[in-house]
Amino acid sequence: MMDRHGCALLLLGLCCTGLIVCQCGEDSRPKFKFLVYTGGEDGSHHMQTINVAKGLIRQGHSVTFLLSSSCTKWLHEGDAYLFNFIVYRSSLTTEEREAISEEFSVGVMTGELGSLAGFMKATLRGMIDGNRRRNRPLNLLLNECDDLLGDAEAMHAIREGQFDMLIGDDMTGCNPLLANKLDIPFVLYGCTAVKPTKLQLLYGLPNHPAYIPERQLGLTDNMTLLQRSTNTLMSLLYGGLYSLHMWWGFSALQDKHGIAPNTPTLELMGRAELWIISNDFVLEFPRPLQPNVILVAHSSIGISEDREVPEDQLEFLEGSDDAGVILFSLGTHVINMEVARAEMLARGLAMLPHRVLWHFPGNTSQLPIGNNTKVVEWMPMKKIMAHSKVKAVLCHGGSGLLHEAIWFGLPFVGIPLFGDQFDNMVRAVHKGFAISLDLFDMTEDTLYHAVTRVTREPSFRENARKTSAILRDDFLIPTDKAAYWIAHVTRFGGKHLRPKVLDLNFVQRNLLDVYAFLLTAGFLSVWLGIWACRKAGRLLALSCSKLVSGTRNDDRKNK
Ligand SMILES: *[C@@H]1O[C@H](CO)[C@@H](O)[C@H](O)[C@H]1NC(C)=O
Ligand SMILES: *[C@@H]1O[C@H](CO)[C@@H](O)[C@H](O)[C@H]1NC(C)=O
Ligand SMILES: *[C@@H]1O[C@H](CO)[C@@H](O)[C@H](O)[C@H]1NC(C)=O
Repeated sequence: MMDRHGCALLLLGLCCTGLIVCQCGEDSRPKFKFLVYTGGEDGSHHMQTINVAKGLIRQGHSVTFLLSSSCTKWLHEGDAYLFNFIVYRSSLTTEEREAISEEFSVGVMTGELGSLAGFMKATLRGMIDGNRRRNRPLNLLLNECDDLLGDAEAMHAIREGQFDMLIGDDMTGCNPLLANKLDIPFVLYGCTAVKPTKLQLLYGLPNHPAYIPERQLGLTDNMTLLQRSTNTLMSLLYGGLYSLHMWWGFSALQDKHGIAPNTPTLELMGRAELWIISNDFVLEFPRPLQPNVILVAHSSIGISEDREVPEDQLEFLEGSDDAGVILFSLGTHVINMEVARAEMLARGLAMLPHRVLWHFPGNTSQLPIGNNTKVVEWMPMKKIMAHSKVKAVLCHGGSGLLHEAIWFGLPFVGIPLFGDQFDNMVRAVHKGFAISLDLFDMTEDTLYHAVTRVTREPSFRENARKTSAILRDDFLIPTDKAAYWIAHVTRFGGKHLRPKVLDLNFVQRNLLDVYAFLLTAGFLSVWLGIWACRKAGRLLALSCSKLVSGTRNDDRKNK
């Protein structure tokens, strides 16, 4: 950071003394009005998008968030003064919505949503229950979209806002519908991962199951024959399920609200000017992208936290011996964890030679907390990670914390709970700076061994430091990079980045027509060849027999 600041100062000095020609002070490029909608999501996705919005504001643009009346907590945050807000009427109350989050969290902590089978079951159940039971986690996005598109007052307010661009979470199919209804362009922001099948379907991204692993299968880019077979089959299944899901849910909304009749929802989604995905090749396996798909590491990277480390936490860090401190957090879901499991974690942590700073927002009076462990309701994670006494991070494998641990070059022990966390951990383990544990199959001993291994074996620390150096080598921090790209396509549109594959239909895209044409042409020429040969043969035979019979006649005459 110092280097960057020093450089900026030097440039500023050169600019202002007229030694080099550049834009001094105010950026003279046009400023835009952005509308941001995360589908009514109320957690990590929204927080990521807030960071990107701040990046846009730093560049002089203005940002308005579209919020659901069932979740308006963002209006009361300390940074709310930076943004504008438009609130639409949701058919859910705040309490109903919190009950849904709670149901999701319980599903996570009981392992119901953790496995691939569990997640697929929940998705299918959500699709089947669809309109009957509105209050299921996986129908939340659909309901919110329906409420938003149907709220004439909110839609009027949005139109009045005259926005230049909609920035939307790619998790919901609502943004393409909203953009179409408002007749403005849109950018999609993917908060989780590069999903090979989804991006192939929507964005024509090259997909190759031989080395690009599908999500949720625990595979790396180095697969055996059996794994490649599974990967290929799953990529077909995912493609089918994803299309079905979009068709089932958002296509119905598209019809209901009279948006772009005759255009498939998938095609609408593919019209995004740009697709920013919150990931980076420090974690993701190398794979091809398209020019309009940009990878940007997690948006919290490189941004400093406002709040200082509380006095007691600082004392706890400073007071540790050479073994140092382990940072432990499983996020907010841990409140819904079974007591026996929380006890196991507490006992495992108590065995460690390190001190442990445990972020736990619940009541710990029943847990066997070790005398090396300090439980806190809140901590400034990044400031703690930056402290030299912190030796490793023990967390669920959420993309944010994982990227932050990488940024600070810390080895990692992951206990993935749901969604992309399993895949993140597969990648982190593959890069050699992490160990992954299964919450439902671990004991205090495995916890103890994993933490002591990542702190004692030098390879974990070395790989973490190297990965950190790669991540820090970028010229821009993720939010500034995302903001740059969003402003870029707002200025120029995304046409120059859009690959032609998106305008091809299924047959053309897969070259089926070409194969059919080539096969037909091949058959025809072979058939023609045979026909010509036969014809030639027959002619030859005819002339021969004529010749022969002619000779015989001559013979007869001669007799
Ligand atoms: C791929 O995995 C196999 C064993 O599963 C291993 O022998 C091989 O070295 C790996 N290749 C690479 C490039 O890592
Ligand atoms: C935590 O739980 C214990 C017993 O279950 C109770 O006595 C205590 O008051 C609780 N503490 C808080 C802060 O709720
Ligand atoms: C902390 O607990 C360990 C056993 O869990 C014990 O050996 C040690 O003496 C305790 N230390 C203090 C300062 O109480």
